[in-house]
Amino acid sequence: MRTQVVIIGSGPAGLLLGQLLHTYGVDNIIVERKDRDYILGRIRAGVLEQGTVRLLEDVGAAARLHREGLIHDGIELLFDGVRHRIDMKEATGGKTVTVYGQTEVTHDLMDARVAAGRQTIYNADQVTPLDFDGPSPRVTYVKDGVTHEIACDYIAGCDGFHGVSRQSVPAAALKEFERVYPFGWLGVLSETPPVSPELIYARHARGFALCSMRSLTRSRYYVQCSLEDHVDNWSDDQFWDELRRRLDPEAAEALVTGPSIEKSIAPLRSFVAEPMRFGRLFLAGDAAHIVPPTGAKGLNLAASDVHYLAEALREAYTDKSSAGVDAYSARALARVWKAERFSWWMTSMLHRFDDTDEFSSRIQIAELNYLVSSRAATTSLSENYVGLPY
Ligand code: APR
Ligand code: PHB
Repeated sequence: MRTQVVIIGSGPAGLLLGQLLHTYGVDNIIVERKDRDYILGRIRAGVLEQGTVRLLEDVGAAARLHREGLIHDGIELLFDGVRHRIDMKEATGGKTVTVYGQTEVTHDLMDARVAAGRQTIYNADQVTPLDFDGPSPRVTYVKDGVTHEIACDYIAGCDGFHGVSRQSVPAAALKEFERVYPFGWLGVLSETPPVSPELIYARHARGFALCSMRSLTRSRYYVQCSLEDHVDNWSDDQFWDELRRRLDPEAAEALVTGPSIEKSIAPLRSFVAEPMRFGRLFLAGDAAHIVPPTGAKGLNLAASDVHYLAEALREAYTDKSSAGVDAYSARALARVWKAERFSWWMTSMLHRFDDTDEFSSRIQIAELNYLVSSRAATTSLSENYVGLPY
């Protein structure tokens, strides 16, 4: 088999890249370890920047998003028992975010790929990127016990944090930067109306809490928990009680509870691997970097990476220029690090750190008070939350 670009991984990064390349007439094959239903069963975040929405429009995968997605003009910050609204639209001269689940984005991109007639190989075992330091890279994989090989011009590693692509790069060629946080998020999805029309980010002495949503009838809530904790320790009632404790009286009263349809604990991590290109192998999305979910940047960073990468590959094919390919890593990383900073900052300001003293806790409160009272600070938060320009 031969194609122009082999994409490893069929998450949002790989799927969006595949569609962008398709619109540029660049032939591509996606090789994915899992099957379609497994991928669509993963519950992930759901806040899309306008740039992400525009890319989905560009590839013709935004029709349902525009029908079902919720446009949010602001968020609420809750601390010291009081909610403060941040009007992001006003602060950014009209920018908003769209609340639409990553699972739905993935679903829409999968449908678009089928309609485009581009190939995805699911259930591919032992996917291996090879010879990417020379002119003729290839990817091998095993399917139903048979080894296959795809020859290509470029390999895009869109295979997430635990994928094979980054691991295939010689360790000496990579520099990794990491911060692991001493807590996790316990998340619950429920078929209940959201407690409030906008997302509530809460700082509480017992720990962070977040009230989010997937639709007007489906809510997503999180509470900060210990890394040693386990979902089995949390009945639905215990979860709702803990969430209520971290909300203001009005929200606690308004909270509609119901059976959880998903419950999981996720650790929080900041991670960047540099560079994002090794010869003809590129890393994009979670394969290259992880952000803690506090800033809602994970999916949006995957989208901006593949935007830069698709532009670079288009230049390589249509203009016969390697300038974009050569610049990819630096361009992507410049935006990645700004989102890393924002996500780290939101995380530091809103979570309970067990090893910190009263001083640090007062600093958190002072920062939040400054944030909701200074126009400059509100603008800074808002422009990062709605997404910095590409
Ligand atoms: N071979 C083939 N496919 C692989 C391999 C492998 N060795 N390892 C992982 N994969 C697949 C996974 O099964 C998954 O479908 O790569 C895909 C990676 O998808 P994601 O983890 O969703 O990563 P990405 O597309 O970069 O999306 C980033 O997803 O994880 C969230 O917070 C993150 O929102 C962000 C977004
Ligand atoms: C979510 O809806 O899952 C969500 C929203 C905002 C975040 C993180 C997660 O910052």
